[in-house]
Amino acid sequence: MLRTLPAMAGELSHFDLDRTPAEPRELFLRWFGEAVAAGVREPHAMNLATVDEDGLPDVRVLLLRDVDERGWQFATDRRSAKGRQLTARPDAALGFYWPEQGRQVRVRGKVFDLGLAASAADFLSRSPVSRTASLSSVQSDTMAEDSDITLALQEAERLLAADPDFVPESHAVYAVVPVSVEFWQGDPASRRHPRLRYRRSADSWVKERLWP
Ligand SMILES: Cc1cc2nc3c(=O)[nH]c(=O)nc-3n(C[C@H](O)[C@H](O)[C@H](O)COP(=O)(O)O)c2cc1C
Repeated sequence: MLRTLPAMAGELSHFDLDRTPAEPRELFLRWFGEAVAAGVREPHAMNLATVDEDGLPDVRVLLLRDVDERGWQFATDRRSAKGRQLTARPDAALGFYWPEQGRQVRVRGKVFDLGLAASAADFLSRSPVSRTASLSSVQSDTMAEDSDITLALQEAERLLAADPDFVPESHAVYAVVPVSVEFWQGDPASRRHPRLRYRRSADSWVKERLWP
């Protein structure tokens, strides 16, 4: 079955390697806008890879919350598995795949906790349902029984009703500050799959074409 499944089918996007900006963030934002325009489902869903204390890689899907001069940002519970992994070793990689366009973007770099103001702004921008869910959970902790979550949700609802501006200490916004960002465009017809990597070098970016 696996060998009969199509990959990179249909009309894909194009990538002109001769017309790229000096900074990867600009190209990422351009590609992101094109993904939204192309109707890619959840283009802001990305894989976040981290490494645990034994050096074993870990990966999960998260939502991109923002991209600005501070880096590629995501929000999570700092007590979660990923939160603990990032505290011990603040290195990560992000992977985006936009199948409707045959595009992949990879971001690698150091991770920084953006601090209390960023966490509060992110938490308070969420819907009541999302805030209640987030407040109720000790993310990635083992859970004894299903009823635990029912009680925790009720407790979180009570707390937020009493104090609507409450922000849990565990809510964190992290930013990946890239040392490299790679853009990959599937092109099955030509079999060339253009790849461009931006590599951080001192204060500037070096652009390199890579073999597919
Ligand atoms: C589409 C999608 C979006 C998600 N977004 C987030 C998110 O923004 N933050 C988050 O902490 N977990 C998010 N999750 C859940 C994570 O994939 C993961 O299960 C959770 O963060 C626990 O990961 P950990 O045990 O490695 O820390 C999302 C899952 C999916 C499938």
